Amino acid sequence: MVHTHIVLISVPFQGVINPIFQFAKNLKRMGVKVTILSSVSAQNRMAKASSSTPDGLTFVSFSDGYDDGVKLGDNLEHFRSENKLRGSKALSELIKARSEEGFPVTGVVYPMLLPWAAEVAREFNLPSAPLWIQPATIFALYFHYFNGYGDLIKKICDDPSCAIELPGLGKLTSRDLPTFMLPSNTFSFGLPGFKEQLDALDAEVNPKILVNTIDALESKALRAIGKHNLIAIGPLVPSAFLDGKDPSDNAFGGDLLQKSRNYVEWLDSKPQSSVVYISFGSFFNLPLKEMEEIAHGLLESNRPFLWVLRALADGEKQEDKLSCKEKLEKQGLIVPWCSQVEVLSHPSVGCFVTHCGWNSTLESLVLGIPVVCLPQFTDQPTNAKLLEDEFKTGLRATKNDEGIVEGDEIKRCIELVMGDGEIGEEIRKNAEKWKYLAKEAVKEGGSSHKNLRAFVDEIEDGF
Ligand code: UDX
Repeated sequence: MVHTHIVLISVPFQGVINPIFQFAKNLKRMGVKVTILSSVSAQNRMAKASSSTPDGLTFVSFSDGYDDGVKLGDNLEHFRSENKLRGSKALSELIKARSEEGFPVTGVVYPMLLPWAAEVAREFNLPSAPLWIQPATIFALYFHYFNGYGDLIKKICDDPSCAIELPGLGKLTSRDLPTFMLPSNTFSFGLPGFKEQLDALDAEVNPKILVNTIDALESKALRAIGKHNLIAIGPLVPSAFLDGKDPSDNAFGGDLLQKSRNYVEWLDSKPQSSVVYISFGSFFNLPLKEMEEIAHGLLESNRPFLWVLRALADGEKQEDKLSCKEKLEKQGLIVPWCSQVEVLSHPSVGCFVTHCGWNSTLESLVLGIPVVCLPQFTDQPTNAKLLEDEFKTGLRATKNDEGIVEGDEIKRCIELVMGDGEIGEEIRKNAEKWKYLAKEAVKEGGSSHKNLRAFVDEIEDGF
């Protein structure tokens, strides 16, 4: 029998590398041989976290012309076309070489928006599937946009008071839509990139999409599209925080930035559930005006806080620009990067002020931490809606007429989420519920575990 051997493709974004890396570890636990094919920059990032790189994963890299990584302001269209050209060649060569060496590739899994991987897999008659690292709700929304509901969606964009209900999804207003659908969107690749991917899936006989979610979280959205088989295999979070069986699996692969170490001792010194943790992910920097509002909200709340503020590309520290930096440093701790899962699992953390990236969203659920949502772009507004209205583990802060969340509003949300009132209690109860259900999903026989096992079996049979 040929051993199952999956080539996983990664791209150089922290928010993609993290789930891909966890997915690879989960496959390996099921006895699958995994080769990770990535650009040089993605591999460099993963290699930085060598202490967390498990044995048995093979890495192969290719240069996509962006060996130092893609930065905000780079021409993303150029990056995508180079990545496609050079990536397709590298994948073909890898499949041929492994076959000659006697370790033939039996399947390909790739992040959505790299449909070239499916084309190459088809050339070699191999099964392939994209790994969708955002919620199933977002996939369904994009799908509906291109399949009969585009005009309706555009209509609610023009009238914020209007709500629509789409198959498998709850009521939506323009505030809940991914920003790529809004007229204000400036990222040219968002919707066309998704369309390209949908077209590639149409060429498959029985398209399957692996989704970093759990059945219990998004049961309706996962079934919103009859045509495609959305398979929940998440949450892709280090297993130490899920089943606890492998305490060494407690880090995400590829830390983008050097971690600061002082935060663990600092957290140790704080009372249980007292700390507000603030992070906006790996990509987005808030404008100074909005950072000042957060600072104001934190100072007013008078609670200890841990705030991740990444240094800017030129090395400048963002906190140096804040007018109240000294006051802030008396009350809390500002770090350039941390292990977020480690922080969220610390007993002193009681609330997460988040941009609602999907990884951060899942991590908050897995670790049972209530949230205050300050979504910024792409899927984040929809994720915030899910957190507030569906999962009910937090509150979405309201923007003022200028589109900014004011400090007083941030303080109000923190107080409600962390306070002793009914709202806080309900939110904390729900957070505990999801923590339990996430663990149930990944254990032997749990929904995600079973789904992944079935997928691997199907790869063995060639779909
Ligand atoms: C991007 C998009 O912005 C997001 O909307 C989409 O859902 C995924 O891709 P990003 O902005 O980086 O992701 O946010 P998120 O998805 O939350 O991923 C950030 C990752 O970095 C998380 O896994 C988090 O644990 C990690 N992180 C963040 C750290 O390990 N340390 C930090 O200090 C901050």
